[in-house]
Amino acid sequence: MEPSSRSKLAHRLAEAGQSHLLQFWSELSPEEQEDMAADLEPMNFQEINGFFKSAMEMSSGSKQEKMDSRMEPVPREVLGSVTRDRDCLKQWEAVGLHCIAQNKVAVLLLAGGQGTRLGVSYPKGMYDVGLPSHKTLFQIQAERILKLQRLAEQKHKTKCCIPWYIMTSGRTMESTQDFFSHHNYFGLNKNDIIFFQQGMLPAMDYSGKIILESKGKLAMAPDGNGGLYRSLGNQGIVDDMGRRGIESIHVYCVDNILVKVADPAFVGFCVQKGADCGAKVVEKTNPTEAVGVVCKVDGRYQVVEYSEITLATAEKRSADGRLMFNAGNVANHFFTLSFLKDIVQKHEPELQHHVAQKKIPYVDTQGRLIKPDKPNGIKMEKFVFDIFQFAKTFVVYEVLREDEFSPLKNADSQDGKDTPSTARHALMSLHHRWVLNAGGHFIDENGTHVPAIPRDGAAGHVTEDVNINLKDGTDLPIKCEISPLVSYGGEGLEELVTGREFRATLVIDTTGAHELVKNGL
Ligand code: UD1
Repeated sequence: MEPSSRSKLAHRLAEAGQSHLLQFWSELSPEEQEDMAADLEPMNFQEINGFFKSAMEMSSGSKQEKMDSRMEPVPREVLGSVTRDRDCLKQWEAVGLHCIAQNKVAVLLLAGGQGTRLGVSYPKGMYDVGLPSHKTLFQIQAERILKLQRLAEQKHKTKCCIPWYIMTSGRTMESTQDFFSHHNYFGLNKNDIIFFQQGMLPAMDYSGKIILESKGKLAMAPDGNGGLYRSLGNQGIVDDMGRRGIESIHVYCVDNILVKVADPAFVGFCVQKGADCGAKVVEKTNPTEAVGVVCKVDGRYQVVEYSEITLATAEKRSADGRLMFNAGNVANHFFTLSFLKDIVQKHEPELQHHVAQKKIPYVDTQGRLIKPDKPNGIKMEKFVFDIFQFAKTFVVYEVLREDEFSPLKNADSQDGKDTPSTARHALMSLHHRWVLNAGGHFIDENGTHVPAIPRDGAAGHVTEDVNINLKDGTDLPIKCEISPLVSYGGEGLEELVTGREFRATLVIDTTGAHELVKNGL
């Protein structure tokens, strides 16, 4: 590094109170110095200090207390529900499919997270939860997109494309792209899968000093899934959407094995309501469940995260006995392109970072690597739903948990929640129900009919029941997997299963253009 550039950098760091970052400079090899300089040069330290200050202010206890008292539940008039509004479902679906057929709908996957809780070193979308087919989350999602394109094409006799925007981070970009390329983009058109990268921010200690993870390297982390909005602008993504004539965007998280990618009913509901912004929710039934809740704060829509709500508020119940704040965020959002453009051009800088307290390995002033056993600093993250407050017409769409929500967050353990096992079981149990609904039956090894699973009755409590059953291992779901290429949401199975009896494991997939039932008896 040129001496003049080095002293300029040192000066910038001194001005921002971050000179300690160069403490070990003289011990670094020339290559390490080059790498470190390349990391530091583009960083705006004054801006980072500003983020730290306002994030810490926002997360202070007293403000949180106050927020609880300012929260109100979602009013009924903005709510659509797959159970209460059953009569409208077909119409919403038709509207959504029509938009898809006109090539006006895109999907956007948030896949920049680090999967720390799951404990894998590769992107979560590459995870195989152990289905009979061993498909990964990425493959399942890709095949749902393919199938939906075909359904729209068949219905409207047009060529249809649902562009798939995939947000990665510095840590997941290369492996994600390699994985897609290695799998030939799962049959999708390569040009309609657009990868882009979110930003990274340094981790800070509680006094606002950037943490060094080694003598020549800063501790960096992705800037949260709300980092989306900066990257939508600076990576030309909204422009790309505009060029393609996109009007509606379904944004979702990578980890939900049941995700209905580009869900026509959700898209159709939002479009028909004239909404610029919408959120899909499931009923939250357990106060301590790790989902955010959609609500109003000071009259503006927002998701309050499970970590930001006090237990007293989470436990509040309405007169009907349900949780008062029960609109559980499943991280599936609808935005119009014009709304996103507005956010990118006007509101992005107004979005505040949230604080996540973390145990961050660091080098101390003696240059020793320390692995702390309690949180020693913070990571700063923007959240994808923080733009709800800017919506002119906001709607909420409630779906059934057992049909649409089973996230993969944690590694398998004895009584774990949101694990590979619970995700696998949720998918197989849904597919089992699809077979039953289409008139198929399952028989056990003695040739006896396996009783059908109770469905709606206790909606909202079903997952808990399933979990309880899984814990003692007695009532595991029937092994049944239906390829998304055969059915997107349970449709089109009648001619394959009606009146037939099957033994588990049942796999329904396609071979070329032919749909096959394997193991059918
Ligand atoms: C998220 C939601 C929470 C919801 C829950 C449902 C947010 C901020 N919180 O919580 O309200 O109830 O899902 O499962 O959305 N990601 C990035 N970049 C990042 C960080 C995360 O793209 O910097 C992506 C992840 O890859 C993942 C998604 O965002 O697809 C959610 O991240 P995760 O950390 O798992 O969120 P949760 O805390 O589980």
